Amino acid sequence: MKSLKQLKTKLPETVKLEKNKVYIIDQVLLPDKLKFIELKNYQQAILAIKEFNVRGAQAIGAVGAAGLYLASKKYFKKDKNEFVKYLKKTGKEIIKARPTASNLSWAINYLIDNLDNSSVLNIKKSILKNYQDILKTEVENNLKIGKFGEKLIKKNYKILTHCNAGSLSAIWFGTATAPIYSAWLKNKKPFVLIDETRPWLQGSRLTAWEMKQVGIDYQINIDSAVGYLMSKKLVDIIIVGADRIAKNGDVANKIGTYPLALMAKEHKIPFYVAAVKSTIDFKCLTGDDIKIEERAPEEILKHTSYWENKNLAKKKTKSIDPLLEIAPKGSQAFNPVFDITPAKLISAIITEEGIIEAKKIRNLNN
Ligand code: MRU
Repeated sequence: MKSLKQLKTKLPETVKLEKNKVYIIDQVLLPDKLKFIELKNYQQAILAIKEFNVRGAQAIGAVGAAGLYLASKKYFKKDKNEFVKYLKKTGKEIIKARPTASNLSWAINYLIDNLDNSSVLNIKKSILKNYQDILKTEVENNLKIGKFGEKLIKKNYKILTHCNAGSLSAIWFGTATAPIYSAWLKNKKPFVLIDETRPWLQGSRLTAWEMKQVGIDYQINIDSAVGYLMSKKLVDIIIVGADRIAKNGDVANKIGTYPLALMAKEHKIPFYVAAVKSTIDFKCLTGDDIKIEERAPEEILKHTSYWENKNLAKKKTKSIDPLLEIAPKGSQAFNPVFDITPAKLISAIITEEGIIEAKKIRNLNN
């Protein structure tokens, strides 16, 4: 019999707080190495988000909150009003680390809005407590997504997913993977089809790593194979994550999600988004209001081990191995890393409050 406890032994937490120290899995090193790194100050938290040591909407929210907690820990002046000002300023700086995922600003605002500002000591205590609350409740929410979403999965279903909206993109259990893990726990034997997800390969590097850790059957396909897979009836259901959801139900998610949804419509394959409420941004009325991050052209123009080599290259002050170039030197590249899927293409959104029609997501604003 499979149990959540068993799953915990296979799948470590992505962000953890142990003896008041913050640790994250270094996702740049996966799938080769599973290594935890300690974040010692808020500047390191920002860098970890910028440089992809941590990525994924809920995970960067948790690391953003960790950054503010670390900033509070290292504040030793006595004036409580100055302290609050400092935290607000630092929070703004952290939010700038990546623009698209709603969870980052949500987590920072949650800490700032719930400060007990009666004294410097109480401010520190409340930041720690609320940071711990985020870690705990976000996992509980993902488990609820699993409970609701699992009902959509029949025995031996082939489930296609894009990017990594897994445990690594969260604190634990993930969003798009939550229904998959729950179905697996119920012995439904899900088979997971993973888009590799150019250019950073979150699918093949991270989602496949998670499936392998747990022991769920999977196969990786290149992103452009999805039309073929659908036309050959090799996909039963699609479940993806989200980085920001607008009030009208439009969804920003990893680049490539929108064409996936269009193809799913043509082939009449159910297309679900799994996300927690902290991913919904009620201030964005439609997907047009969502800022889409553009990243370095090098992510496209160089071999994907570019990320590891970038750090090596920095140390050696040598240029990166020319063999790693996969386009003519001097090529231009455009690298938007998210796209917008209109609400009308989404079968429904699986949230911690139930499975909700995308255009009714506005009703969760309470
Ligand atoms: O650029 P990333 O890896 O931080 O992108 C975020 C994602 O992992 C995806 O868009 C994912 O599908 C949603 S995150 C729960």
